[in-house]
Amino acid sequence: MSESLSIKSHVGPYHVAFADDAVTLAAAVQDVHVIVDRRVAELHKGELAPLLSGNSVLQLEATEKNKALERMPEFVAELLKRGIRKDHHLLAIGGGIIQDITCFLSATLMRGIDWMFLPTTLLAQCDSCIGSKSSINSGDTKNIVGTFTPPSQVWISGRFLPSLDERDLRSGVGEMLKVHAIDGPASFDRLARDYDSLFSNPNKMLEYIHRALVIKKPFIEADEFDLGVRNVLNFGHSFGHAIEAATDFGVPHGIAVTIGMDVALEVARGIGMTGEDTVTRMRSTLRRNARGFLNVPVPMDRFLTALSKDKKNRGSGTATVVLPHSDGKIARSIQPVDERFRHLCARYFESASREHAA
Ligand SMILES: NC(=O)c1ccc[n+]([C@@H]2O[C@H](COP(=O)([O-])OP(=O)(O)OC[C@H]3O[C@@H](n4cnc5c(N)ncnc54)[C@H](O)[C@@H]3O)[C@@H](O)[C@H]2O)c1
Ligand SMILES: [Zn+2]
Repeated sequence: MSESLSIKSHVGPYHVAFADDAVTLAAAVQDVHVIVDRRVAELHKGELAPLLSGNSVLQLEATEKNKALERMPEFVAELLKRGIRKDHHLLAIGGGIIQDITCFLSATLMRGIDWMFLPTTLLAQCDSCIGSKSSINSGDTKNIVGTFTPPSQVWISGRFLPSLDERDLRSGVGEMLKVHAIDGPASFDRLARDYDSLFSNPNKMLEYIHRALVIKKPFIEADEFDLGVRNVLNFGHSFGHAIEAATDFGVPHGIAVTIGMDVALEVARGIGMTGEDTVTRMRSTLRRNARGFLNVPVPMDRFLTALSKDKKNRGSGTATVVLPHSDGKIARSIQPVDERFRHLCARYFESASREHAA
């Protein structure tokens, strides 16, 4: 069993426990209002029974439509109907969508109510459960409203993972590959070697969930509000978000991030920032993780428009991206979105889909 972690935040430390009996531990908390992914509640109704039998359980579809500012009044009304008070707790059970909804409600309802988290997707377990962020959609714009509101407790149980679709597993692995790349070439190569065993060996998977959180921890502790060193965790994300937007979210987040890292390799090589050796070392694992999605058409005009609108950008005509350097270091870089940049991105998507088709 992996050791628990303690994460520092602006409101004090919170704990991440690796526990097969996560449900029993969560059920011991009094005055809890559960916000649960309907699919998870159905698939795991036996295991979750102690939590779902309480008198305040809100079952929601994990859709981007529900993760919207416009839906919040309805959720607030439901919680008020169930008698929520300021000294009560919210408990999120699900992936990043349920996390974002609960975290946002926790930040704003009565100016702050405690929240706890039982993540059920790999992405939420290995990445989003720590870091304090909530991101909510408004109108047509994804993740445009948000807060920094850490949970008071996270419980990670491997028991939820077997029911995930393979695409959602690989989406989580995309975030794992990202933090291991940031940790350095040796870390990335080790995960690349163990890639297959993640899917066949539950203990190996838990070991890497733990490692991913251990790697992420110092970045979010040093820069909880994402103003400096934490920016590097955006590796693969500016390109990834643009892929999600240009494909109408036809590519799951962590897979778009995987492809985004591959685009970053192409751009970094094209501008002479990194060499062929880095591309060769990382590309095959990234493409394995993104398989089945490499030939999803990505219209270049929509991709570049989304990239230029990314909320990390500072000036116009430039994109703030995170790129690999030749020594394996991953760092933030401001690039002009000029003819060369466009050409490198376009060349990437052409060659990736050609290779995929071959
Ligand atoms: N706040 C943050 O720090 C942060 C970070 C990354 C992503 N996000 C957000 O999270 C969302 C993506 O989250 P996600 O990938 O964790 O998943 P999700 O919440 O979108 O869920 C993905 C799918 O898996 C299903 N599911 C969840 N747990 C399951 C289980 N154990 N078995 C079977 N099916 C299960 C859901 O019903 C859904 O169909 C996006 O909206 C993204 O913007 C937030
Ligand atoms: Zn992400």
